[in-house]
Amino acid sequence: MKLSARLAMVAELVREGVTVADVGTDHAYLPAFLVSSGKCPAAIGSDVRDGPLMNAAATLAVYHVTDTVRLLESDGLDAYAPDDADDFVFAGMGGTLIVELLERTSWICDREKRFIFQPMSHGELVRAFLLQKGFRILDERACFDECRPYVAFSAAWEPEYRPRYRKSYIWMGELPNHLNEAASYYLTKQYVYLKQRADALESASLLPDEVRVIREILPDLEPYIRKKHKGES
Ligand SMILES: C[S@@+](CC[C@H](N)C(=O)[O-])C[C@H]1O[C@@H](n2cnc3c(N)ncnc32)[C@H](O)[C@@H]1O
Repeated sequence: MKLSARLAMVAELVREGVTVADVGTDHAYLPAFLVSSGKCPAAIGSDVRDGPLMNAAATLAVYHVTDTVRLLESDGLDAYAPDDADDFVFAGMGGTLIVELLERTSWICDREKRFIFQPMSHGELVRAFLLQKGFRILDERACFDECRPYVAFSAAWEPEYRPRYRKSYIWMGELPNHLNEAASYYLTKQYVYLKQRADALESASLLPDEVRVIREILPDLEPYIRKKHKGES
């Protein structure tokens, strides 16, 4: 079984030998891969809707993993018991939804658990939520899949780990430590978005405090942006 580059990057962040839960599993490609490859002995694939769970059941049958992957109808983590899994994946969802689902789950602050995120948008909201709750981002990667850049990161609850995070951290995560072409592309997109927002707010004389924060963040992103955005050929 071969995963897309995006899901393969997510699969790498799951710990070996654990029970993994894939929240919003749709076709259940990720849990099917993790058990059929032997990386995980058991998995759960959950989704809020019936249609995706039917897709998931078909995938499990094709890859002969119906015994090792359990399907669960669940809105976010609502139908899970805390001990159902060790690693919880949220892939292919927007950052706003991911934060909503985490916010209403009381048991996420557990240092034994690992959470893996691949937000399709607003990764900064997920990172900000994690830091505020006492999580540490352990690893973060980027890849291209069909020419689009994606990021994924893993986090664990480690409230005693309290470095002085710079304001730019939620926009960059751990990507500066794992730079590749896709990471640089992603960081460039963040830079362009923030710069355009600050310029627009400034010319409309709006939200001066936000403009000041963005102007503080931009120099941290500059070393990682792609050359053509620095005016070089
Ligand atoms: C774009 S698909 C991503 C599928 C897969 N995780 C991936 O990354 O390829 C998003 C899935 O999340 C599911 N979803 C949306 N909101 C959800 C929620 N509140 N709880 C669980 N699943 C949800 C959707 O039904 C859909 O199957």
